[in-house]
Amino acid sequence: MEAITEREFTELVCYIKQNYGINLTQKKTLILGRLHNYIIQNGFDSFSEYFQHVVSDHTGKAGTILINKLTTNHTYFWREPKHFEFLAKVALPCLIRNAGDRDLRIWSAGCSTGEEPYTLAMVIDSYLGSEKAQWDTKILATDISTAALERAEKAVYSTSQLEMLSSQWRGQYCRRVDAENSILTDPIRREVIFRRFNLMNEVFPFKKKFHLIFCRNVMIYFDAETRRELVNRFYDHTEPGGYLFIGHSESINRYESKYKFVAPAVYRKESQ
Ligand SMILES: C[S@@+](CC[C@H](N)C(=O)[O-])C[C@H]1O[C@@H](n2cnc3c(N)ncnc32)[C@H](O)[C@@H]1O
Repeated sequence: MEAITEREFTELVCYIKQNYGINLTQKKTLILGRLHNYIIQNGFDSFSEYFQHVVSDHTGKAGTILINKLTTNHTYFWREPKHFEFLAKVALPCLIRNAGDRDLRIWSAGCSTGEEPYTLAMVIDSYLGSEKAQWDTKILATDISTAALERAEKAVYSTSQLEMLSSQWRGQYCRRVDAENSILTDPIRREVIFRRFNLMNEVFPFKKKFHLIFCRNVMIYFDAETRRELVNRFYDHTEPGGYLFIGHSESINRYESKYKFVAPAVYRKESQ
């Protein structure tokens, strides 16, 4: 099979951008590396033939496999620790003081293989301690990649992946399954609800607004316009007084959003 032609590359890049927001314009090597062998092994003679198969498959399965291959799911526990410190020292005390109904709604948008929402569950459990049972602090964790979500649901991580957590938390929240791997404890797993959700959906089907939205290291793959629109949709789905956390390498232009900057990569919707 020939390498990808310019026309095929442009077609694929447009399709991914339109459907998932991800900008792969500069990522020809990544596309070839992740798709070339798959296309040959599955008997397609060209990228065009494969692409036709994807767009004409109305079951959506071919599109799911394609996006599973093209997303970058790199993540780890306790990533960007300052965020979790801010959460425990500033955001949680404030939200808990003001939450009349003991219900905190949290969304990890672009959760990948689960390390981010599970870290959140640990921070919240550790913050609330014996009070935890009286609170509903379930975390909605969404991603476009079903492969990442399947791994997240299993909650099994290798010893080296868990090294980012303190030994106290490893003892408290993890159980050995074999020489190499551990599984997170049931109380932590029960706190996180995983769902497939495309952040490009025009409508966010959530009845209630969120107190905390984490969307970190996801928008780096989107262009400026897509980012701006998404941040505005996040704003509409944030409770007054609630927070948006983005990756430390990302930023929100203050003239393009109503969120207020409160700490590096942390924004707040002002209370009304
Ligand atoms: C690099 S990971 C970030 C994981 C985690 N938030 C962190 O900071 O460690 C980016 C994730 O965004 C997801 N993603 C990319 N585009 C998406 C979209 N349109 N809708 C939902 N998730 C998307 C990818 O599948 C990937 O798992």
